Amino acid sequence: MITGAASGMGRGTAIRFAAEGASVVIADLNEEGGAAAVRECRENGGMAIFQKTDVAAESDVKALIARAVKEFGKLDIIYNNAGLGGAAGLIEGTPVEDWDRTFAVLTRGVFLGIKHAIPEMRKAGGGSIISTASIAGLSGGYASHAYSAAKAAVVNLTRSVALEVAKYRIRVNCICPGGINTPIFNIFSDDPNQIEQMLAGCPLKRAGHPEDIANTALFLASDESEFITGQALNVDGGLTAGPSTLFDNTDWEKFGNRYLGPSFTTRRN
Ligand SMILES: NC(=O)c1ccc[n+]([C@@H]2O[C@H](COP(=O)([O-])OP(=O)(O)OC[C@H]3O[C@@H](n4cnc5c(N)ncnc54)[C@H](O)[C@@H]3O)[C@@H](O)[C@H]2O)c1
Repeated sequence: MITGAASGMGRGTAIRFAAEGASVVIADLNEEGGAAAVRECRENGGMAIFQKTDVAAESDVKALIARAVKEFGKLDIIYNNAGLGGAAGLIEGTPVEDWDRTFAVLTRGVFLGIKHAIPEMRKAGGGSIISTASIAGLSGGYASHAYSAAKAAVVNLTRSVALEVAKYRIRVNCICPGGINTPIFNIFSDDPNQIEQMLAGCPLKRAGHPEDIANTALFLASDESEFITGQALNVDGGLTAGPSTLFDNTDWEKFGNRYLGPSFTTRRN
């Protein structure tokens, strides 16, 4: 079951899972995108159904899990991925309602997916819970206070639930994407190439794509990752590997390899 699978990385993951033979439940508010994602999953050889869902509404999430079990017999994997940019702008002008709406989707939505998946996974004898956090949840983000705080909550919820449900052979992990070219960036430009360029500033010098996240989710869903739980995995082209420093502009080929001893022994030239 994948939320936010009508678009972007959720849709890419649904298609990849279908190609691997999974039966996929696509959950989203967007019916048109959901129907298209179902078609693409089927074309890739998998079973897929769509359920219109608002992840912030507990009744919707309960109905979603019930449908997954009814259609496919059990629930092995849930990927809590639905999201949006939420409240953007300076902290002093952030309306309380926008703060709450952001948390309702990004944090409550993940909580509800986890809460209602666990009983079914216990019945099934185990499972893999994956959520989409963000590299924005690992550090501050300019003018994205609610988003950063809500994604940080997803990282810690992942850890605390992982501790609790490990005894049921349920693993809980989250992915922290950074710079993935999806429609979430449409606010910046209508031109996907421009967004592609904008996101290519990471050490690997390219934008991320939904397939990068699909590959990671596939790994976390599979037995290949059976000893991994409670982790936040960054998929960001190296953005969080370290800050740029004043050494970035040094011509290291020219500077050569040197041993930098105590500063009182080194000479400027
Ligand atoms: N693109 C990036 O670089 C990036 C980086 C870090 C985190 N993320 C996160 O990745 C996730 C997927 O985003 P994306 O980049 O694929 O964007 P996207 O807009 O293409 O996909 C998000 C999907 O979530 C759905 N959605 C939004 N609110 C919903 C709700 N209340 N109930 C159900 N569905 C809802 C949307 O309809 C959409 O289909 C989000 O959680 C986002 O915050 C994205």
